[in-house]
Amino acid sequence: MKGIDALDVAGRVVLLRADLNVPLDGTTITDDGRIKASLPTIRNISRRGGRVLIVAHLGRPSGETYADRAAGGPSLAPVAARLGELLGRPVPLASDVAGESARAVAAALADGDVAMVENVRFEPAETSKDDAVRAELARRLADLAEVYVGDGFGALHRKHASVFDVPALLPHAAGELVAAEVAVLERLTQDPARPYVVVLGGAKPSDKLGVIRNLLGQADRILIGGGMSYTFLKAKGYEVGKSLLEADKIDEVTKVLAEAAERGVEIVLPVDLVGAAAFAPDAEHAVYPVSDFPPDREGVDMGPATRQLYKAKLADAATVFWNGPVGVFEFPAFSTGTKEVAQAIAALAGLTVVGGGDSAAAVRKLGVPEDEFTHISTGGGASLEYLEGTTLPGLAALE
Ligand code: 3PG
Repeated sequence: MKGIDALDVAGRVVLLRADLNVPLDGTTITDDGRIKASLPTIRNISRRGGRVLIVAHLGRPSGETYADRAAGGPSLAPVAARLGELLGRPVPLASDVAGESARAVAAALADGDVAMVENVRFEPAETSKDDAVRAELARRLADLAEVYVGDGFGALHRKHASVFDVPALLPHAAGELVAAEVAVLERLTQDPARPYVVVLGGAKPSDKLGVIRNLLGQADRILIGGGMSYTFLKAKGYEVGKSLLEADKIDEVTKVLAEAAERGVEIVLPVDLVGAAAFAPDAEHAVYPVSDFPPDREGVDMGPATRQLYKAKLADAATVFWNGPVGVFEFPAFSTGTKEVAQAIAALAGLTVVGGGDSAAAVRKLGVPEDEFTHISTGGGASLEYLEGTTLPGLAALE
């Protein structure tokens, strides 16, 4: 994969695919981690006299072209404003993706300038499964620029026009973020120091069963927490009350547990849970052993015995990958499990990698210093699919 420094950018319009898909509360950005993570590449191109034209997505707009935008959908305007603040100069935003406005914005760029086109997902062709439909948009995007830099790590698992098709049309290179993320993932997959412990949380096992299967051949221990742990507990015959459950995944989970036992990989599940009377920040709650969980409660965090157990299972780890919060960390009363898992991982001396928007946001929100981890990935699905052994379309396109 060609790195950005090998690409001649001076005086050229560089179409930079970044992942600026930040969480928003209305039009307020609640975590600007992905914008900050994109700065090194933007600054690199700008410093070398390139004319940076950023293409990025925000949310998942659907329907007819621009329908969402007309209805006040997810415009990149707040992102362009924040990027401008971080760079210390205004970042113009085209009012379309690859039309008249984008062409005018590109033409107005001087060497070192930075501008953006609108949310690429306002064009339904971006995510089309039809190669010819994507190709038409890819051609219009490619016509805006002379070279392409792929730096949207979090979107590399998407076979989308701006990620997969445009690099085939222009001289291209991988940006600094993609290079850094891939280097860490290589360390995780190529002979990791042992014990290699994986912590998986988040809502649904269906998102993670593929990666768990693949990790059975790599990890020594897999700690499962959060919403997905209730389906695992149910598969082992426990009552989980009103907790999140993927009933149609119980058989598959049972098979994964059997395969883990066969291969000698330890799967660690919660032994106690915080059960709440409702899903609310101030809900009445108590701690229950998993063997005695009430049918009218829902799991919202791991209990104190589980916290101790997970800390003990992490203590000797030389390599850790963590994806997904292990409780409803957004509610302070139920954030203890996620915070203590984050602190236990941060305290380790080995390679510690946090993957996924939610876990990264949890680290920042709970005040665990980011620099105590080796790496905080900007990509949830992308890092999971990499660890699953899947070829990421966007990465293949850059290679
Ligand atoms: C993400 O938020 O994981 C990436 O930006 C990809 O977004 P997507 O899941 O909507 O494709």
